[in-house]
Amino acid sequence: MNKALLVSDAAHYRVDYEINPYMHTAVQPDQAAALAEHEGIIAAHRAAGRRIEYVASAPECPDMVFTANAAVVSGNRAVLGAPPPERKSELPYFQEWLINHDYEILEAPYPFSGQGDALVCGDLLLAGYGQRTDRRMHALLARELGYQVVPLRTVSPRWYDLDLAVGVVEPGRTLAYCPQALDEPSRRRLRGLGLDLIEVDVQEAARFALNLISDGTTVTMTKGAPRLAATLRERGLRVVELDTTELAKGGGGVRCTALTLDNPLPARP
Ligand code: ARG
Repeated sequence: MNKALLVSDAAHYRVDYEINPYMHTAVQPDQAAALAEHEGIIAAHRAAGRRIEYVASAPECPDMVFTANAAVVSGNRAVLGAPPPERKSELPYFQEWLINHDYEILEAPYPFSGQGDALVCGDLLLAGYGQRTDRRMHALLARELGYQVVPLRTVSPRWYDLDLAVGVVEPGRTLAYCPQALDEPSRRRLRGLGLDLIEVDVQEAARFALNLISDGTTVTMTKGAPRLAATLRERGLRVVELDTTELAKGGGGVRCTALTLDNPLPARP
């Protein structure tokens, strides 16, 4: 898992609106630094042996670098995201790429943040709600993709997507998460899964520590979270820490910039 990723580019990345608490139109990303940062992330994926697919960003889509919100993909099926109005113009570009690559497209009838709120972990789908995803999406995701859905509610706009609060470290085995980002029933559900759980503090989580990409061997993450990085290394993982300063101005990190194309298929009964 996470050996095949769909990315875009930072050529048109800007902060034109404020749809999460990290975005401030007065604080714009530095264009050259943002391009270099994004290229650094892609270079790290390639060095880890990951296949990269690419959709060019469009001038009218300042957040298109965050491909994770475009959809959630499993096998040849893609459930499209239904983002806030500011980001709707991205969808046709992703839809076109998915159709050209023979994906069967399902449209979301309710607000849905795509993979931002839908993290595959073995046979489980960790499914965020409460911010950008309507809980009614969960039944559709279970039915159409076949995973066992674990609903997880994030408690504030700081955690506007689940991929800021939870990171899949070893699919089906190890998760890192920030307990304070989830409500109590969600914490209980997570603790009841029998997975190995790593706790991350609010300070590192708010610096996008959990917004990581792991294939189970190499973890690609921000360099803003040395405590989590050390914990992962102690567990024998290879950890690559990258600068995500410019992406943070849009409220994103490493995980947000890649849509996973090779999620494991659920074991069907
Ligand atoms: N500026 C983008 C937004 O607010 C950032 C999206 C980051 N994506 C993510 N999967 N967390 O929509």
